[in-house]
Amino acid sequence: MKMVFSSCFGAFDSCREESTAMETQGIATNNVTLFSYNSLRSATRSFHPSNRIGRGGFGIVYKGILRDGTQVAIKSLSAESNQGTNEFLTELNTISKIRHPNLVQLIGCCIEDNYRILVYEYLENNSLTSALLGSSGKRVELDWSKRAAICTGMASGLAFLHEYAEPRIVHRDIKASNVLLDENFIPKIGDFGLAKLFPDNVTHVSTRVAGTIGYLAPEYAKLGKLTKKADVYSFGVLLLEIISGKSSSSNATFGDDCLLLLEWTWKLFNEGRLVEIVDSDLMDYREDEALRFAKVALFCTQAASQKRPDMKQVVKMLSKGVNLNESLLSEPGLFRFQHSGKSSGENSQVSSQPNKEKQSTTSPFMNSQLDDYSHSVTHMLPR
Ligand SMILES: Nc1ncnc2c1ncn2[C@@H]1O[C@H](COP(=O)(O)OP(=O)(O)O)[C@@H](O)[C@H]1O
Ligand SMILES: [Mg+2]
Repeated sequence: MKMVFSSCFGAFDSCREESTAMETQGIATNNVTLFSYNSLRSATRSFHPSNRIGRGGFGIVYKGILRDGTQVAIKSLSAESNQGTNEFLTELNTISKIRHPNLVQLIGCCIEDNYRILVYEYLENNSLTSALLGSSGKRVELDWSKRAAICTGMASGLAFLHEYAEPRIVHRDIKASNVLLDENFIPKIGDFGLAKLFPDNVTHVSTRVAGTIGYLAPEYAKLGKLTKKADVYSFGVLLLEIISGKSSSSNATFGDDCLLLLEWTWKLFNEGRLVEIVDSDLMDYREDEALRFAKVALFCTQAASQKRPDMKQVVKMLSKGVNLNESLLSEPGLFRFQHSGKSSGENSQVSSQPNKEKQSTTSPFMNSQLDDYSHSVTHMLPR
């Protein structure tokens, strides 16, 4: 049985436990269906392992088929995680209100006993991680026109979040595994678990750092200063992954100096060899377009956040009409994770409370800083 509701959860009988009702009070939602746990259990054949389609930092995602035949993706949060519940409520509150062709649509949720479950539209082609960077069995042939459409679709979804959503939203975790692909490879931004809302008059917030190393803007990773430009940076890294078919993680390095993808791209650009960044698996592609996209990625990942374009500008820069003034390009910024041996490493999703007093100007994450930081790495993320 399912019910449609449009006010706060606290008003519903099906939220049986008082604590649940308390916890969810004030979470306003629009047009979201409330599912019973039983209905989701039957949709997934008791959460059968063969229905698993993904796993992220906060739980497992299952494919399910509702009684009316609708295919859905069911994201079940691990019950023990306190932080997970907060992420759940953030995600619910954030995405229940917004609609855009490049944002994954939330259909409903289940809040029953200890269960916290989100139900989304099901996207046939899973995530960009599996389609582009996954093992050879999972990889899909993504020709240039599909990749270009993924880049522009992502840009317009993100521009919507930054410039048009009410209130404005900074996603904070733009990366390949959070880009979902429908049957026509139209990209949809998913996983709003870390999203931050920015009321109109707010330009930045200081916050605990959360996100995924490799995609983290340096000023945000080091100082916890979050602006929309942190998403712009992550988007730039994602663009490079799409163009090159290579991962930005530390597991993939390039050249004799073992450079990361962004560093390698910058080197190629300076040596007039930028075309070498394009995926060699692409047989037939628009060189002018691929080069322009790579340059846009470099504009997005500049160390100085104020020099990065906003997402509305990025949408224009990706379209044909704009000449890019390369002479304005400055060096990219990169946040490097220093391994201590016991931490989860560069593929980690992180959540940390930077201690401003302790930060040194030269190397804020070395040595003692690292200890604080590595304790707060919370999740290993499959990439
Ligand atoms: N709507 C969906 N359709 C198809 N696959 C999905 C969907 N949502 C998530 N997935 C799969 O599950 C993975 C994890 O989902 P995500 O929402 O990012 O969870 P987490 O918050 O745990 O990172 C995705 O990378 C993708 O492979
Ligand atoms: Mg995710």
